[in-house]
Amino acid sequence: MKSLKEEIDMTRLPGHIAIIMDGNGRWAKKRLLPRKLGHKAGADTLEEITKAADALGVKHLTVYAFSTENWKRSQEEISGIMDLLRNYLDRYIAKADKENIKIDIIGEKSRLDEDIQEKIKLIESLSAEKPGLNLHIALNYGGRDDILRGFKKIAARIENGEIKAEDITEEMISESLDTGFYPDPELVIRTSGEERISNFLLWQIAYSEFVFNKKLWPDYKPEDLYEDICYYQNRERRFGGR
Ligand code: IPE
Ligand code: IPE
Ligand code: MG
Repeated sequence: MKSLKEEIDMTRLPGHIAIIMDGNGRWAKKRLLPRKLGHKAGADTLEEITKAADALGVKHLTVYAFSTENWKRSQEEISGIMDLLRNYLDRYIAKADKENIKIDIIGEKSRLDEDIQEKIKLIESLSAEKPGLNLHIALNYGGRDDILRGFKKIAARIENGEIKAEDITEEMISESLDTGFYPDPELVIRTSGEERISNFLLWQIAYSEFVFNKKLWPDYKPEDLYEDICYYQNRERRFGGR
């Protein structure tokens, strides 16, 4: 019998997969563990899935790690997540010379602690020349905030006389977003069974296919990724045509 990985049609591999990594809290609750341990297990899953996607040959992986709404959580949970983030960034920095993966951060970085912003700058420069998968981590990211900041960039160009309002194109709007330098996702996966977008990429998902996987994020394995890609490949994408 063919393995799930062998079922994937490599000629139609999605170039950009976006993942809403949801369910860390419920995973911890089921085990009577503090939520922070759920987030820790989620960070381990991220490393495993990133490696699997890189090995497959996926070019771009965008992962939703912390939303603009997640600041509403308890101070304890937020600092737990930020500490795990520091840890994750430090681990990459320590083994940067052996890494194949390129990392950058999308989202509004100025609200993050100063030391995290420094680590982000370092990681982005250390990974700039890496040949492998582009991992885009969405931190303090909101789709509406992304569009709002994009609007302001375009408005500033109008204000300084560089362009006129009627010159604005869809392409210009795409380029003004945090994801402006890479293509839109063909496939969006959300784990944990919730079927909503929660302010993730909004403009960018106009023609994405969605897979809602019931697994909680810390339980999500490379086999689940292969299965979700196969499921996506068995769909017909029409783009409004017949
Ligand atoms: C996703 O897991 C991680 C973040 C939002 C930071 P959750 O923490 O939302 O887990 P659930 O939804 O409570 O299970
Ligand atoms: C979305 O999950 C954000 C991330 C996975 C980082 P949430 O758990 O925050 O979303 P809601 O509250 O279920 O919409
Ligand atoms: Mg959640």
